[in-house]
Amino acid sequence: MKKIKKEEIIAEIKRLKKERKAIILAHNYQIGEVQDVADYIGDSLGLSQRAAQVDEQVIVFCGVHFMAETAAILAPQKTVLIPELKAGCPMAEMITASELREWKRKYPGRKVVCYVNTTAEVKAECDICCTSSNALKVVNAVDGDEILFAPDKNLAAYVARLTEKKIIPWDGYCYVHNNILLKDVRLKKKLYPEAEVWVHPECRPEVIDIADKVLSTGQMVKEARETKAKEVIIGTEVGIIYRMKKENPEKNFYPAKDLALCFNMKKIDLRKVLRALKDMVYRVEVPLEIRERARGAIEAMIRI
Ligand code: 13P
Ligand code: SF4
Repeated sequence: MKKIKKEEIIAEIKRLKKERKAIILAHNYQIGEVQDVADYIGDSLGLSQRAAQVDEQVIVFCGVHFMAETAAILAPQKTVLIPELKAGCPMAEMITASELREWKRKYPGRKVVCYVNTTAEVKAECDICCTSSNALKVVNAVDGDEILFAPDKNLAAYVARLTEKKIIPWDGYCYVHNNILLKDVRLKKKLYPEAEVWVHPECRPEVIDIADKVLSTGQMVKEARETKAKEVIIGTEVGIIYRMKKENPEKNFYPAKDLALCFNMKKIDLRKVLRALKDMVYRVEVPLEIRERARGAIEAMIRI
């Protein structure tokens, strides 16, 4: 692509978006300029709900692959594009469909709750999906006193604190959240003693222990608008702070760890969004048989 100015790229994205009858959905961790061209920014749950309802024919999904796949499952009649094919989620690769089948054989009769951070093949093998904002609700709503929960062990441990059910966790984790250590949060707390601490439930249990609030990214954005706190230490991927500052310029948000960066989320930029709309790439499709089974698990979650 020849060198063009940022304003020209944005103008061209807007023009092509109209021409293609497209909508741009972006996750809260996307870089600021991608958030700025998006029609909707949200967490995993909000993005799936939005994808299921869009009128536009084309969805440009700025997030990681499992999120675009979820959109393709919920809106199979639409064209779902991800601007960068290599934007995957390492946690979603930590359990495969055959590993999950094997696990189910080991624990017969238990319902399986899968975090949406999984591949479509894994979703197709589970009973119901959950996101960070509804994991507890989902676990409490499914039948049985013992639940298999995959793949995030930290989210599983967080839910286990709040439910009476026994949670059997898979040994997966998010490298970004797992790398936010107790000492990082303590250091920030020393620098900003008046600040509240909000963390994502993918964080380690000892980090959750010292948090004032445990929130999904969507809940953090909402809480940032509503809180009376003037300073908050944010224990999640740093991209979300762009939106929090933009929407609440009078409040201060500090990352719990400056290097809490999801490199996969950062693989998408304005040029790639433009390429997606221009060349209609990269199309995300899920084979019918997997799609139908995975859809059942996602829709069961959305009903809750
Ligand atoms: P949210 O659903 O809270 O946005 O989380 C998604 C995710 O990938 C967190 O790392
Ligand atoms: Fe996956 Fe973690 Fe990145 Fe979220 S922040 S997309 S869980 S690697």
